[in-house]
Amino acid sequence: MSQPSDRFRCDQTSAWVTLQTRFKSTGQFFDLQQAFADDTQRFERFSQQAPYVFADLSKNLIDVATEALLLELAMQCGLEGYRNAMFAGEPINSTENRAVMHFLLRKTPSAQYIPSQVAINKIADLHAEVLAMQEAMLAYAEKMRADDDIIDIVNIGIGGSDLGPQMAVLALKEFASTGKHFHFVSNVDGQELAGVLARCRPDNTLFLIASKTFTTTETMTNAHSAKRWFKAGGGRDTGRHFAALTTNVAAANAFGITTTFGFWDWVGGRYSLWSAIGLPLAIAIGAKGFREFLAGAHAMDEHFRLTPLSENLPVRMGLLDVWYRNFYSFGSRSIAPYNSALKRLPAYLQQLEMESNGKRVDASGRLLPFETAPVLWGEPGTNGQHAYFQMLHQGTTVVPVEFIAAKTAAYSLPGHQPKLLANALAQAQALMCGKPDDGGHKNFPGNRPSTFLLLDELTPASLGALLALQEHRVFVSGAIWGLNSFDQWGVELGKVLAQDLEQRLVNGKLQGLDGSTAGLLQKMRA
Ligand code: F6P
Repeated sequence: MSQPSDRFRCDQTSAWVTLQTRFKSTGQFFDLQQAFADDTQRFERFSQQAPYVFADLSKNLIDVATEALLLELAMQCGLEGYRNAMFAGEPINSTENRAVMHFLLRKTPSAQYIPSQVAINKIADLHAEVLAMQEAMLAYAEKMRADDDIIDIVNIGIGGSDLGPQMAVLALKEFASTGKHFHFVSNVDGQELAGVLARCRPDNTLFLIASKTFTTTETMTNAHSAKRWFKAGGGRDTGRHFAALTTNVAAANAFGITTTFGFWDWVGGRYSLWSAIGLPLAIAIGAKGFREFLAGAHAMDEHFRLTPLSENLPVRMGLLDVWYRNFYSFGSRSIAPYNSALKRLPAYLQQLEMESNGKRVDASGRLLPFETAPVLWGEPGTNGQHAYFQMLHQGTTVVPVEFIAAKTAAYSLPGHQPKLLANALAQAQALMCGKPDDGGHKNFPGNRPSTFLLLDELTPASLGALLALQEHRVFVSGAIWGLNSFDQWGVELGKVLAQDLEQRLVNGKLQGLDGSTAGLLQKMRA
């Protein structure tokens, strides 16, 4: 479980010390408006076009010299080597001894980029498996799209087996040419499943049981209930009405599901949308749309893999995240998609960033003396403006905001899109410029940072690129912090305790419990 020898944790580098000095001397006094006044090229310097995504970073508390130091930090931490190790299929998920290769799921058949001969052979074999799985899954998606008897598609899964497909199906609704209804059931709270089943009929329903491990309690409980409901309603052909998306095909078969689409242990749950877990999206937008989605992500992978660090958007964003978290001590980031179709994006990004980098030890298990992942949260604009933006503008805590918008609307109602875009621009402008003249309650301090990500339009390809951008920026901050961003041990304890407490709720045994848990348990049983 040691770190690769060429990987150094940020606090062990000289660049870290220099950045601390820089923050004390200038960073903490940084004035955004002054920075624009001093540098007429600031927008050009701190904005860039990456595949499908234009990013304006200029409203952030950073200047050329600080960015140069952050890039030096990345070099000293061995970011390039670590990135290349991921793309070469090395087992960088060190606590689980697994490679991290979700990028392979979106690689086009002709792409070649692996440095060593051994890696070429290994990855070429795996890529052939990936392409075969994709063919089978997309053929099945097309078959389901053409099957008029199947009206309701019910995805049963949780975490990465829910958040990705749910977010993406909603985001690309305008590209869904089927008349099918998509439902996502994740919670073990039966209210969710009961509500969906009340609207379905066994003969017209396809259940997709999505679980990397095929052991997750919530998913298994819902899957069993769905099967019981199906049979009780006269359903007989489980082969036709149930499919499993999993790495554990044997368990799916044992459950009674014969239609299975597999994937690999080198695809983390939160990175699995690109695998068989993406089947609901493939049914919604078709094989062609799904391939475009993969291609958009692949374009961003190539940008991340090949572009010099100073022009590499995920690198610049990931380094900015480190600058904010460790020097400004900003504890959260607000995601503001000015696009209702991206309503579930904040939830998706929460898992991506907080499950990846919400860690207090480095990859070698050593306790960290600095902060890691911020809290991510958010709602679509303009809704957030009428709720918590008050705090963003005038609260005591500075929260960097990430605006995400598409130039072109996917609908044809006139007059809405200019208002939407104007509001996104206005909020970013107000956060930065403030309103100093009124004093007291009407004073806006300004100098509050934001990033603006602009797509031409929200399409399968641009969504793919946007998500890959987010994955790689999380990779970058995790690399600088010396983390293993690819495990999630922190979710295990609660699962074990819940198993024990479920039994105690039945048998009433309190022995060994703390006073509060025992008291609540008794209340629940009373
Ligand atoms: O408990 C956390 C987690 O393991 C996530 O990482 C994962 O996305 C989710 O549960 C679902 O896991 P599975 O796909 O194996 O059911």
